Amino acid sequence: MTNSVVTGGELPGRALPDMSDRQFQRWVSLLEARTGMNMPRARRSFLVTNVALRMREVGFDDYDAYYEYLTSGLNGRLEWTHLVDRLTVHETRFFRDERALRLLTSGILPELVRRPGWDGDINVWSVGCSSGEEAYTLAMVVDAFARSTDSSLRFGITGTDISLRALATARAAVYSARAIQRIPDDMRVEYCEPAGPGRARIKRALRRRVAFALMNILDVNTAAPRRMDVIYCQNLLIYFAQARRLKIVDGLARHLRPGGVLILGAGEMLHWRSPDVVRVANDHDVLAYRRLAE
Ligand SMILES: C[S@@+](CC[C@H](N)C(=O)[O-])C[C@H]1O[C@@H](n2cnc3c(N)ncnc32)[C@H](O)[C@@H]1O
Repeated sequence: MTNSVVTGGELPGRALPDMSDRQFQRWVSLLEARTGMNMPRARRSFLVTNVALRMREVGFDDYDAYYEYLTSGLNGRLEWTHLVDRLTVHETRFFRDERALRLLTSGILPELVRRPGWDGDINVWSVGCSSGEEAYTLAMVVDAFARSTDSSLRFGITGTDISLRALATARAAVYSARAIQRIPDDMRVEYCEPAGPGRARIKRALRRRVAFALMNILDVNTAAPRRMDVIYCQNLLIYFAQARRLKIVDGLARHLRPGGVLILGAGEMLHWRSPDVVRVANDHDVLAYRRLAE
């Protein structure tokens, strides 16, 4: 076994080593402690395959030795950023939840700009933004709203994620022609440009409204308040146990300005109550909460 050389590839035909139950539990606990993600038994082969492939890439043949490497020293911290890319699910798409977006355009944004004393800024946070499709979708929706209302609205979108690789894709803002087909025609013309065969890039005018940053959502309760108008958190909480979801949603609510709205994925948060928010009534069955005035 070596641990100093990154070989960058798996040798074809080499069977992956077995992982014992004890080892599996150890990896599950590490993942839960560091990312909040639950790894049920049904996803055992996903975890084993991805840990094994990555461990081979960095020259280990033994799960325990790789675990020790990963949990000690600076190299371990760097290696963790690679492994976490493998163990997180990055599935996403443009305009993924049409009902939530409709509520944003027809209900939430108009109310936000009518708030007494509103300063003209709208700040939106895409939490667990993956490769950026959600953040750019929100930018398109807010920009189109600003144009349609002719308001002097200024806006910024922040996308955060735990995966450096996903964030690099988000910053590059280049997507397949197939991926951008999900963007409504008029917006695709307005906000996308060709970027080589079968590829399109989000235009600079929109890109400059969107910033991406590394953030582990487990740190939400200790992070400095962000004073957001909209927090959009979809398809992330599903990977967490209920107790963790409650803590995270409490933490997210702290980052809202008074009148700001937290939008969650359908069915992702049950039985959440907070004295600081009210549920936003809507016909779209969208789970959204407005922060009360301080
Ligand atoms: C399934 S994607 C959802 C992407 C997007 N929100 C959507 O709905 O299309 C989940 C994202 O959450 C990120 N993630 C998982 N655990 C995280 C954590 N502890 N902190 C921040 N992001 C995390 C993953 O890296 C992944 O990009």
